Amino acid sequence: MRDLVGIEDLSREEIDELIRVAMDIFDNRDKYSEKCKGRILATLFFEPSTRTRLSFESAMLGLGGNVIGFSDASNSSTSKGETLADTITVVSGYSDIIAMRHPKDGSAYVATMHSRVPVINAGDGGHNHPTQTLLDLMTIRKELGRLDNFTIGLCGDLTFGRTVHSLATALSIYDNVNFLFISPKELKMPDYIKEMLTKKGITYTEVEDLEENIDKLDVLYMTRVQRERFLNEEDYVRLKDVYILDKAKLKKAKKELCILHPLPRVNEISIEVDDDPRACYFRQAEYGRYMRMALILKLLDIK
Ligand code: NCD
Repeated sequence: MRDLVGIEDLSREEIDELIRVAMDIFDNRDKYSEKCKGRILATLFFEPSTRTRLSFESAMLGLGGNVIGFSDASNSSTSKGETLADTITVVSGYSDIIAMRHPKDGSAYVATMHSRVPVINAGDGGHNHPTQTLLDLMTIRKELGRLDNFTIGLCGDLTFGRTVHSLATALSIYDNVNFLFISPKELKMPDYIKEMLTKKGITYTEVEDLEENIDKLDVLYMTRVQRERFLNEEDYVRLKDVYILDKAKLKKAKKELCILHPLPRVNEISIEVDDDPRACYFRQAEYGRYMRMALILKLLDIK
């Protein structure tokens, strides 16, 4: 039985195969429409979500399976004091696979210790978000055409943004990816990610200014300042609008730049950018459906 807790649980070959299958599903949806007949996905969301939960559910329904779950922990027995361990023990008797989002770092790993079915980490606190990374990789592969030999700028809240932690980890196994970490000094990439890169002999550059550096990028990955993980509101208010990508800033960018964002966006990408051909973020969100279909098939070992 396989779980997906962190992106490092998958090899490069497995990730490449998932991207291949996801692209095949994208092109031939009917071929897959009964693959999960009789199987049940449980979506346990202890934190808010739109895309991740709905794309997981859409994925399982698209495979002919069924879905149970909750999107608000206050409606579950957690509000009565039930432990995560007990919830998982019980739900793994009701389902064939579990996708869980939880505010605590490390909670997905705890869930795997109590589950009798595969557990997928759909985001654990400010730590990891491996399924977002899979769809980010699919997007880069589809929109840029390659997963090696490019420069990516990760921009915004690199401290609390779980998506950028998983993405930097994943891209470290591809060849010749140059990293630019663009953040205010208060929201820098955590040391453990930087140490992981250094150990692998990968260099990165930390900068504060987006506009000065935008011309170097093939991929720009914008992120939201993670309000819910700040200890005080004042710091959030001071930092929330530190980067706003607009048409003026894009003037110096490459013509083939891919602009990604895991969404939801707040102010960090002006809506005037949405109709720029370089804006990939809504297509990126859609690819999540196909990538999650591929992942469910893999973890349930369905060919
Ligand atoms: C991200 C998340 O939940 O970490 N959203 C998502 O899953 N698409 C990013 C965010 O909330 O800022």
